[in-house]
Amino acid sequence: MISFESANVGACLSPRQIFIGDGAAEQIKEMLGNWQVNEGRILIVADKEVARLGLMDKVREPLAAHFDVDCFDEIVGEPTLAIAESLVDASRAQAYAAVIGVGGGSAVDMSKLAAAFAANKGDVTEHVGMTQFKNAPLPLIAVPTTAGTGAEATAVSMLSIDEKKSIVLSPQLVPLAAVLDPLLTVSLPPNITAATGLDALSHALEAFMSIKANPFTDTQAIATMTVIARWLKRAYADGSNLEARRAMIYAAYTGGLCLNAGVVLGHSVAYTISNRAHVPHGVSCAMALPYTIAFNQTALAARLGVAAGQVLEQADAEGEDLILWAGDLVNELGMPGTLQDVGIRESDLEAMADECLNKYPRPTNPTPIVKERLMVFYEKMYEGDLRGCINAFRSV
Ligand SMILES: [Fe+2]
Repeated sequence: MISFESANVGACLSPRQIFIGDGAAEQIKEMLGNWQVNEGRILIVADKEVARLGLMDKVREPLAAHFDVDCFDEIVGEPTLAIAESLVDASRAQAYAAVIGVGGGSAVDMSKLAAAFAANKGDVTEHVGMTQFKNAPLPLIAVPTTAGTGAEATAVSMLSIDEKKSIVLSPQLVPLAAVLDPLLTVSLPPNITAATGLDALSHALEAFMSIKANPFTDTQAIATMTVIARWLKRAYADGSNLEARRAMIYAAYTGGLCLNAGVVLGHSVAYTISNRAHVPHGVSCAMALPYTIAFNQTALAARLGVAAGQVLEQADAEGEDLILWAGDLVNELGMPGTLQDVGIRESDLEAMADECLNKYPRPTNPTPIVKERLMVFYEKMYEGDLRGCINAFRSV
């Protein structure tokens, strides 16, 4: 049930159009036509892996009959400032009519920078943090090939500067349109299906916990968590299950819309893990998720009961049931169970807590994040002691 108790004012962004369904990626020419882009030169920004698998060609080939098409397919996971800068140079080398981002969250995020910087002067480093661009970006179409990050729906571009996660954030970066084609996700291996799907679940559950949640984001969050609870394990077990792939690419998009409420402690902790262990974003988010719900269980008992009822399809389920469900799901999908498992040492924990507080503060979290409690959080994660975490924060 959507709650209307909050008087929050929320600003929610989304793409202006989505194309959703099997084979939608072959219809991008029509989509571009909706925005008066009918000729000229197009820049495709893609993951190296997506290019290697031939997925980029599924987008490029139908367009090549009508446009001049250039491809920048050098994007890798956790893109660096150097990659972003070389992409910006490429985006300015020709007069492009539009940009298309094809790939996982990294490629889509980088395509946002290409669209914005092609139309503007300045360096990437001048726009780190919340920013504005003087000129409107080029028309941008986002084509996700993983089902999780929701980057196709968001205003943020993440990159790694000096080995730390940094963001460029502007409402102008939201793609004009998104193409949600499940056929592009069929070849995703189980480990990436799991990690990206759990990232989308983290977006839904963290946004649902955010103090900036509003009826729009709650609607998206409940839809997202319900779909993922029903379909993620099926997509993981059988990647050729198209119904599951359709469900997950939809849930990743609605999970992206949830990000209008912001995320909470879990994503901050995830950054501190990925900065050291260099595990994919979805893996670190998945590891942090059950502990984050436990951290907030007292402040949000009623709301977490609502979420538990949705995912477990039991009207009387409670927050603790949700925590244990999330913990079991993360384990069943093969995620690392403890910080030790990804090579973090006990002596790293205090520096991680400090980094979490100072570099990734999270005022959206409903329970105040103070160092003492955060150390307990990290210690429980280090040991993989979810029950202990539930007990430690039961009355906080
Ligand atoms: Fe995320």
